[in-house]
Amino acid sequence: MEHLIKQYALESGALEIQYIEEYFGEFPRKKSAAEIMHRLEDRESLILMAEAPLPADPAGTVVPVSFKIVHELKATETDPKLADLVAKLRDVLVFDGRRILYTWIGGTRRDWRGHGHFRALTEESEVWAHTAGFHEVVVKTKNRFYDMRGTLDHLQFDVIKYEPNPTDNRDSKVYLSKQLTADVLRTHTSHRTLTFA
Ligand SMILES: CC(C)(COP(=O)(O)OP(=O)(O)OC[C@H]1O[C@@H](n2cnc3c(N)ncnc32)[C@H](O)[C@@H]1OP(=O)(O)O)[C@@H](O)C(=O)NCCC(=O)NCCS
Repeated sequence: MEHLIKQYALESGALEIQYIEEYFGEFPRKKSAAEIMHRLEDRESLILMAEAPLPADPAGTVVPVSFKIVHELKATETDPKLADLVAKLRDVLVFDGRRILYTWIGGTRRDWRGHGHFRALTEESEVWAHTAGFHEVVVKTKNRFYDMRGTLDHLQFDVIKYEPNPTDNRDSKVYLSKQLTADVLRTHTSHRTLTFA
């Protein structure tokens, strides 16, 4: 299957993500376009979206079905949320002399899950990141996000940290990462066409 991937500039990408997030019932706190722009405006980032036809009309118009935002994470972050993330990762990630990428948000709309869209976006982001000189990509999830944990397992992310939640273990956080070596790019399996919005 050929995956159609669109790369977005910041403002149009933020608006597209705000739109697609409306389709994700499982995300209680959806990101607004303003929040996305604020987070990404001063850092290197990538906004990708996969498009596909409606299941009932396979030859028809394509719609956005899956998305992913990755951005640079520096040891010197001052934004409170990112500074907290860096503090939690310091003992398991080497920042010195290395470029770290953070997978911030992403998902696939329910009707299009299991068709390889998220793998395609992840692989495209890894090609971009390797070319941009990033050394490692890190992602945070929770015990109870079983679909995401299973997917990250298939995409060969390694657990680097587990942060127990004292009241509910299903809310415990799991941090995973992947080294962005040329070998990793050779494991890619998706077929993709990239266009720029
Ligand atoms: C997780 C999610 C993004 C996967 O998207 P997707 O487009 O269905 O994923 P893909 O079809 O590209 O699958 C990628 C790989 O993961 C595997 N996979 C996908 N869903 C899986 C699941 N529920 N359990 C185990 N493995 C799974 C696929 O088999 C595939 O592996 P393969 O290429 O080796 O065969 C999607 O289920 C989703 O949006 N879930 C809700 C988002 C979420 O939980 N967010 C929590 C915040 S971290």
